[in-house]
Amino acid sequence: MRPGQVSLTAVAVATARGLALSPDATAAALLPAPLGSALSHWQSLPVWARSIRLAPRLASGGLIDHLDLRTRAIDRELEMAVDAGARTLVILGAGFDGRAYRLPCLRDLDVFEVDHPDTSASKRTRAEGLIPAARSLRHVAVDFDEMSVDDALEEHGHDASVPTVWIWEGVTPYLPPEATEITLRAIAKRSAPSSRLLMTYAVPKLVGRSAPRLEALVRQGFSWLGEPLRGAMTPQQAARCVQTHGFESIRDSGQREWAGSRKLAFHLARPLRAERLLVSAST
Ligand SMILES: C[S@@+](CC[C@H](N)C(=O)[O-])C[C@H]1O[C@@H](n2cnc3c(N)ncnc32)[C@H](O)[C@@H]1O
Repeated sequence: MRPGQVSLTAVAVATARGLALSPDATAAALLPAPLGSALSHWQSLPVWARSIRLAPRLASGGLIDHLDLRTRAIDRELEMAVDAGARTLVILGAGFDGRAYRLPCLRDLDVFEVDHPDTSASKRTRAEGLIPAARSLRHVAVDFDEMSVDDALEEHGHDASVPTVWIWEGVTPYLPPEATEITLRAIAKRSAPSSRLLMTYAVPKLVGRSAPRLEALVRQGFSWLGEPLRGAMTPQQAARCVQTHGFESIRDSGQREWAGSRKLAFHLARPLRAERLLVSAST
């Protein structure tokens, strides 16, 4: 990430969620001002303009539908984790995630949004007038490459004795394996029994078929944004990785499972099928 700059991938994914078929209404409120206002205008288009709304979905190369499916799948897993007893939610690399403001199932939970200091500061400023749906919300500024998540959460009052549900959505592909390892160690240390980890990861082959030029182009695109892709795992490696840290795999899913009967969304999202979601529980 470029110093002093808000994460561009966090901006891109929140914008995409704001442009989805059922848009995330918190995206416009949380994104940096000019973009947030433009998104708000777009979202206020009348219902008859739905056909125009398909245009960005087609033009985004699958990003909007992939994120729509991914975020809703994680929302469902989060609700299940709360039903199973989680009392705290930690969102690692939160970006402009709006769950703390939009999900009623968080009413009895304390939420900690952890992110790089530059992105965290921007979101905090924008979120000032918003009322969280969560019982409490704290912003924790940490650079995973340099600081310990464990110390930062301890400082901000995270209670490691009650079950925590961790969301690590769209972050591990940007981290070198060592940073993922260090963060998993901190997660394990702060996870009471029955805690859950909802982690997305990217499989090594991004484009899913033998297309080395396209693969190189996609990787180059992320590097231009200042956020090169540095971490990839197979499903087996991801399960082993969390197991090493005391988490038992519950479900590993991809776009097919997330989409269910949403056929159009599934087909539009295909270019980004390299990302998967692993749900695991601490033993
Ligand atoms: C693709 S965005 C995902 C944001 C959010 N999880 C979402 O889905 O909307 C990646 C996030 O990881 C964070 N991130 C990347 N590298 C980081 C690092 N070294 N330390 C802390 N956060 C980091 C960025 O600030 C950004 O918010």
